Amino acid sequence: MTKKVLVLPGDGIGPEIIAEAVKVLNVVNQRFDLGIELSEGLLGGAAVDATGLPLPESTLEAAKQADAILLGAVGGPKWDKVETAKRPERGLLGIRSGLKLFANLRPAILYPQLAHASTLKPEVVSGLDILIVRELTGGIYFGQPRGIRTLENGEKEGFNTYVYSESEIRRIAHVAFSLARQRSSRVCSIDKSNVLEVTVLWRDVMEEVAKEYPDVELSHMYVDNAAMQLVRAPKQFDVLVTGNMFGDILSDEAAMLTGSIGMLPSASLDINNKGMYEPCHGSAPDIAGQGIANPLATILSAAMMLRYTFNEGSAADAIEKAVSDVLDQNLRTADIWSEGMQKVGTQAMGDAVVAALQQ
Ligand code: NAD
Ligand code: IPM
Ligand code: MN
Repeated sequence: MTKKVLVLPGDGIGPEIIAEAVKVLNVVNQRFDLGIELSEGLLGGAAVDATGLPLPESTLEAAKQADAILLGAVGGPKWDKVETAKRPERGLLGIRSGLKLFANLRPAILYPQLAHASTLKPEVVSGLDILIVRELTGGIYFGQPRGIRTLENGEKEGFNTYVYSESEIRRIAHVAFSLARQRSSRVCSIDKSNVLEVTVLWRDVMEEVAKEYPDVELSHMYVDNAAMQLVRAPKQFDVLVTGNMFGDILSDEAAMLTGSIGMLPSASLDINNKGMYEPCHGSAPDIAGQGIANPLATILSAAMMLRYTFNEGSAADAIEKAVSDVLDQNLRTADIWSEGMQKVGTQAMGDAVVAALQQ
């Protein structure tokens, strides 16, 4: 059966890193006879420039028709001044909510070869393997009302609404508990229930769902402490489950534990494991066009796609092993480079992964 994959390169380094992931996908497609068919679409600033909208109807339709989506990154200074509703980032949020991709998995795994690339001491991060489960279609990112209004005294006021329903919390809890069962069976739920009612409910629902998973240990932590603990002793965690905004922030922090944000892949899944796969980082305008971005987070996102949406674990394993082989060859993009290593650009890194796959 053919597997339809929509590729959305996006902006900035997006097209550069996507080109490398596509090379890798083409190779595993042949080697494992996966029947993947790729097509390409417009999202983000690229779509704003071409159509005036960050998420054209044709892109949303193609995304709905596809079995999986591979995304680069969107956004950049060129579009920072456009009205909020037309910002490139709104295209990304629109596709997440339009496809009901509520479960965002962000695995922070330290490749042992990169223990010295992290800004933390090697003993703090070596052996790190944590999974952030971020709720992706609710919370303050989507809550209504939102906007900027003018008060009677003429002053402006900006406002957003942090809201979660029980059912939204329950379904992300089930994802976290089920995934924990395949790991070390520990879930730490991150909230701010000492201040925010919405997360008092979050904590209550986590407790309730935990009863269905007596073999999984549930603990709770306030988000400010969690941010600190992630850099103090990150290996205490197994699965972290949290809301949309806390998950966004904590996952960038966790990325640095793995050496670079250029190493952190992600899967955004709906209830049937249809998914969109993208690196956790953005369009990196500061290095776009220079051919130096790290394509590994995007390549590893393609591996997650094979594992989660297509159930092709062996093909996913092969990609992850090829990435490890390339690190064994001491090849490093600038973001993960350290003394004694060979510095390579985006394309050379992609080519090396392809070569390792063909060994
Ligand atoms: P960013 O993640 O793009 O960049 C942060 C820093 O990390 C930069 O110094 C960048 O050079 C570096 N970096 C990121 N990816 C890298 C890679 N693969 N290899 C090497 N270095 C890398 O975050 P930002 O600068 O805050 O945001 C830039 C734009 O990207 C904004 O418009 C933002 O809205 C957007 N953004 C998009 C996504 C997405 O599409 N999923 C995610 C985050 C940010
Ligand atoms: C991410 C990004 C997005 C988010 C932005 C670009 C909308 O930071 O995927 O982590 O906040 O979810
Ligand atoms: Mn982010």
